[in-house]
Amino acid sequence: MDVEKDKDKLARLKSEIEQLKKEKGAVILAHYYQQGDIQDVADYIGDSLALAQIATKLEEPVIVMCGVYFMGETAKILCPDKTVLIPDANAGCSLADSCDAEAFEKFINEHPDHTVVSYVNTSAAVKALTDVVVTSSNAKKIIDTFPADEKIIFGPDRNLGGYINSLTGRKMLLWDGACHVHEQFSVEKLIELKKAHPEAKVLAHPECKKALIILADKVGSTAALLEYARTSDSKEFIVATESGILHQMERDCPDKTFIPLPPTDSTCGCNDCSFMKLNTMEKLRDCLRDGKPEVIVDPEIVELAVRPINRMLQLCK
Ligand code: 13P
Ligand code: SF4
Repeated sequence: MDVEKDKDKLARLKSEIEQLKKEKGAVILAHYYQQGDIQDVADYIGDSLALAQIATKLEEPVIVMCGVYFMGETAKILCPDKTVLIPDANAGCSLADSCDAEAFEKFINEHPDHTVVSYVNTSAAVKALTDVVVTSSNAKKIIDTFPADEKIIFGPDRNLGGYINSLTGRKMLLWDGACHVHEQFSVEKLIELKKAHPEAKVLAHPECKKALIILADKVGSTAALLEYARTSDSKEFIVATESGILHQMERDCPDKTFIPLPPTDSTCGCNDCSFMKLNTMEKLRDCLRDGKPEVIVDPEIVELAVRPINRMLQLCK
């Protein structure tokens, strides 16, 4: 009975969202960490890079970013004349929060001869201080475009920065930030799972700690991990990233098994990103109906932040 009620409620929400989308001239973008129903109702699903690239090509006047706030800001910076909505304006990011713009500016000023590379998981204000933005999809490719002796500041993710340093042999100066979800994955539990599933391939996001990255068969962005799962001959995978990605993995590969890696403290459910999961179908419907919450970026910040984002989009064409 309750299951039937839930199905009816979901069907109603879906049809309201479809109707409002048409009425308002809106398009829905969703990140792979969104809850499954939101991914299913979205017009486009992608990793951070794809969502930014898609935003630049849209004709609709309203973009609803089902992701976290910095993703909405990136879309707004790239499309300042459009209205960018987000179902829950409190959907932040612990990694972006680990890099305060004022403190980052001080760090930059202490190293004046350095090029500043920032991960896309940053506030618009941090992007405005940056020479080039990267995502986990293109960080190595973009860093490789710099001469070997280029002095580089990389912020804010120490794990992604350390991983790129290890791949390239560079000594980029790293900001000491991290994501609370990816830092929580347990190496001990990974070793236990590998013993129990010796044929399973380990998929890890580069925001994970080095000890975990070393044990992975594939390290990459959410889109890269999904592509690896799709094209691999393996039938079992241990997944070390936010659990929302399992929705597309299971949809695209119904004959394969995906085992989410638990965090060290399994009682906290930390492999769900609490920020990503703030967005719900109800809030998505409401934001389409009410035209809020809207993502707002100061026009002066837009002017400065658009350059490093466009530089990234040019370099990774
Ligand atoms: P992707 O760019 O790989 O989608 O990652 C975004 C993110 O927030 C990872 O935690
Ligand atoms: Fe930010 Fe981590 Fe959530 Fe990704 S998983 S949005 S890095 S808090």
